[in-house]
Amino acid sequence: MSAAGDDAVARGAQLIAATGRRPRIAVLLGSGWGPLAERVRDPVELSYAELPAFPTLAIDGHAGRLLLGRIGPHEVAVLAGRKHAYEQGDAAAMKGALQTLAAAGVQVLVQTNAAGSLDRGLRPGALMLISDHLNVAQRSPLVGASGSARFVDLRDAYDPALREQARAAAARLGTPLQEGVYAWVLGPQFETPAEIRMLVALGAQAVGMSTVPETILARWLGLRVLAFSLATNMGCGLEDEALSHAHTLETARSAAQRAVPLLEAVIAGLAP
Ligand code: HPA
Repeated sequence: MSAAGDDAVARGAQLIAATGRRPRIAVLLGSGWGPLAERVRDPVELSYAELPAFPTLAIDGHAGRLLLGRIGPHEVAVLAGRKHAYEQGDAAAMKGALQTLAAAGVQVLVQTNAAGSLDRGLRPGALMLISDHLNVAQRSPLVGASGSARFVDLRDAYDPALREQARAAAARLGTPLQEGVYAWVLGPQFETPAEIRMLVALGAQAVGMSTVPETILARWLGLRVLAFSLATNMGCGLEDEALSHAHTLETARSAAQRAVPLLEAVIAGLAP
């Protein structure tokens, strides 16, 4: 259940504090970005199963891992495992996890995902810095929340100062990093060619099935957000390829060689 109680959140924050780590930056790893977990120095690992407000994951029997350690000068909490809204129709699936991290002192959420490209200039394997989003799914993780804080202002949801720092890190590495708008669809089916034409007409450069609910939650919690997409395929119908989850994962894995060093450099260079 996503509506974890305050007690569950507080207990999770205590468990994190009991490790002696004080993460200020959380990093949510999407498909293809998993190898970043190996770059965390001096890690202490908690299983999602130990953290009462974290989701139960059903993928391959893995519970999900929270790694507490350092990247560059920063204390980080790396989340290896995300529950998607398409699994049970719950856009708030990561709500308790983000509440726990915020209660533990996290101030910045760095998100990563795999996405379909809607822009012929963004080839499979290329990276995109998310500048804004379209909530095409029109679901909200804040349904059921109360108080005026739920009317979250999403202007600059993807923090302009952090984006500037990310662009600077990419330039130092010589890694191309275009900015664009990410459209969130519920999935889990891929889009039709007509839907892809619609998303292009709406002004999106990438489409995917994640990230937006967590951005909304993070802004509600007062966290600053930075987010990256790894293009794994061209949107359905833009080119002749057939789409499959296996192909998406395969491209994401091979592109990780470029994505992961960039992410590590971006995080190390953040001055939040
Ligand atoms: N559509 C939606 N989500 C995706 C895609 C796509 O083409 N590729 C990777 N995630």
